[in-house]
Amino acid sequence: MAFLFNSDAERAKIFAAAFARELPSLPFITDAASVDPETVKYLITWTAPADLARYRNLEILFSIGAGVDQFPLATLPEKVKLVRMVEDGIARMMQEYVTLGVLALHRDLPGYIEQQRAEKWTARPVRQAPDRRVGVLGLGNLGLAVLERLRPFGFPLSGWSRSPRAVEGVACHHGMDQLPEFLAAIDILVCLLPLTSETHGILNADLFKALPQGAGLVHAGRGQQLDAAALIDALDSGHLSGAVLDVTDPEPLPAEHALWRHPRIILTPHIASATQPETAAQTVITNIRRHEAGLDPIGLVDRSRGY
Ligand code: NDP
Ligand code: OXD
Repeated sequence: MAFLFNSDAERAKIFAAAFARELPSLPFITDAASVDPETVKYLITWTAPADLARYRNLEILFSIGAGVDQFPLATLPEKVKLVRMVEDGIARMMQEYVTLGVLALHRDLPGYIEQQRAEKWTARPVRQAPDRRVGVLGLGNLGLAVLERLRPFGFPLSGWSRSPRAVEGVACHHGMDQLPEFLAAIDILVCLLPLTSETHGILNADLFKALPQGAGLVHAGRGQQLDAAALIDALDSGHLSGAVLDVTDPEPLPAEHALWRHPRIILTPHIASATQPETAAQTVITNIRRHEAGLDPIGLVDRSRGY
């Protein structure tokens, strides 16, 4: 039985070395055309190949990324375990990105960028961190890592998840019923939710209205969670003060799209975080060992929840 690797050559080299060292008896294949599909027990990829059905003995489909919304959950055979990427490298990069975004909004970087363009040398009002409340949508692997990294700045922290969570020093809320009270007490909202039927379009006009006047948004979840027109309206009316966006719908963002040019938006091209092959290979190897010992892999997707 074999492990089929379907990602870039750079990552393949690092994965191959780790597999040769730690799982030498498991053939590591990078060329799908050269393998008998019946022998593929494990596959790692960003999207499911069109001919997925030919891997009839597949046991685990690993996502090379943290998100799994790109996989056809409804048609994936029930016996195939779908596993999202849970690894330290991806969390570390997301910590950096969200910290960058939160600090940019906290210190009004969009305002200073506008002023720089206008050659205007003026100090803008500043708030201290204990007066800037930061809330994170999603208390999973990445949401928790980000909260941990933000803690030393002294922002009052809160979070929202689907099921109840307890995180020290973080005011935790869960479920739709508690969303309004969570939103009402936030100055900078961070979105790190997976894309599911429940979170599709969640960053919409109603949600923006529920945030206090002058709030900001850091969005690094998925583009389809955001109603871009509603965000632009909220920024134009002054209800929201700025946004840092890493994800859009579609990606790449088409030329002339309003998000490109809005003066209160800082936009990056889905680079907040990326799977780091050294740590990711270790995670996958651990998960294969767990699976072969009859344990669930870390990051096993619950199909009923969609993440
Ligand atoms: P996890 O699965 O570990 O965590 C998801 C969190 O979201 C959980 O706390 C979960 O609640 C919560 N959640 C899910 N659905 C709902 C809902 N309907 N209502 C309330 N809370 C909900 O995911 P990760 O932290 O690993 O990743 C999150 C997402 O970040 C990925 O799915 C991906 O879309 C995005 N991402 C973006 C990257 C980028 O570069 N921009 C890079 C990597 C990931 P509960 O705790 O109750 O289960
Ligand atoms: C991921 C991503 O899900 O890159 O890992 O967005």
